[in-house]
Amino acid sequence: MASKILITGACGYIGSHSVCEFINTSNAEVLTLDNLSNSKLETLKCVEKLTDKNIDFFKIDIRDEKALDDLFLSYDIDAVVHFAGLKAVGESCEKPLEYYDNNFCGTKNLINVMAKHNVKKFIFSSSATVYGAPKSLPIKEDFPLSATNPYGRSKLMIEELLRDLVVADKLTHEKNPWKIVILRYFNPIGAHSSGLIGEDPTGIPNNLLPYVAQVAAGKLPYLSVFGDDYNTSDGTGVRDYIHVVDLAKGHVKSLDYLNSLERGGCEIFNLGAGKGYSVLEIVEAFKRITNRDIPYEISKRRQGDIDKCYADVALANRKLNWHAEFDLEKMIEDAWRWQMKGSF
Ligand code: NAD
Ligand code: UFG
Repeated sequence: MASKILITGACGYIGSHSVCEFINTSNAEVLTLDNLSNSKLETLKCVEKLTDKNIDFFKIDIRDEKALDDLFLSYDIDAVVHFAGLKAVGESCEKPLEYYDNNFCGTKNLINVMAKHNVKKFIFSSSATVYGAPKSLPIKEDFPLSATNPYGRSKLMIEELLRDLVVADKLTHEKNPWKIVILRYFNPIGAHSSGLIGEDPTGIPNNLLPYVAQVAAGKLPYLSVFGDDYNTSDGTGVRDYIHVVDLAKGHVKSLDYLNSLERGGCEIFNLGAGKGYSVLEIVEAFKRITNRDIPYEISKRRQGDIDKCYADVALANRKLNWHAEFDLEKMIEDAWRWQMKGSF
């Protein structure tokens, strides 16, 4: 029988690509929810075009216990893939309460309703930000954890809550234990190759790729490169960029993995490409692929940034049977197609 999965944050950047992958490549039946605080319902209409399916959507805030309860009463849900949350590091420093309320309290509320309905399979969107400033590279899942801002702390707190659930199951010999996968994403970029869905940041983008894309398109005058005195080959920050469709595929593999588990547990996987690129390498690649000029200026370091960050993805390769397939060229081509075609 096809399992029914609930995808939260389904209209967002990673959620929408994942809804597409689950529908097109797995036999799971998909229910979606979002409060549309950082997305538009039109995105899901585009996913319907890409999948040739009508998608069940509920406008629900994950902090609304009654609405979630009604949803779990009405549908036989087997697992939850949880993307809903706020994600802007800078904003989290200005509005910490909003971040703890939305991310931590919202997730706790969702987990609570799941427990009430005995739904115990959960895939959680965590972030490489929980590694803080790593002492060595590549980053493995068992590296020490720390957070430098409320966004990162909200992710760490959720991870700890999830680990505690599994400890409690063992203590109480729970018959239907939690089966949890925590996915720590590195830097998702790119867009669906159709150009129909992609990242749609409101206002001036915080992240490198959408910023560079808008400079290349002439919407912004130049890129500020945040520091050229890092301990990297050209002095600019190095990150592990991963195509959003590869990331989405990692969720389909994670659900297969959860479904294959006989016992409960909480497993953590890095999802990255396993390779680092500097800011200037990204700028050069973007110039070459788009044939556009990308003016930039070196400015001071951005507070909280680290010099280098890239993943050891051996665990996800081995246990999830997952590999990132798309290279930087494809990531940039797809990001550019979306930039030129997309934006509602
Ligand atoms: P996004 O903002 O595009 O998508 C998140 C979605 O969740 C949005 O559609 C938003 O409307 C919805 N949402 C927010 N609060 C909600 C609530 N209380 N109830 C219901 N819906 C709510 O972000 P994204 O880039 O797709 O990120 C998805 C997840 O992955 C987030 O949890 C984010 O923290 C995590 N993550 C993202 C990145 C990244 O660089 N994009 C990196 C690491 C981790
Ligand atoms: N950068 C610039 N100029 C810009 C934007 C970024 O030089 O205008 C640089 C940054 O200093 C950094 C690199 O480009 O060296 C990447 O920066 P991003 O803001 O794109 O990404 P981060 O690695 O800082 O953070 C992202 C998400 C976090 C997430 C983290 C790990 O924003 O939420 O990846 O997954 F936690």
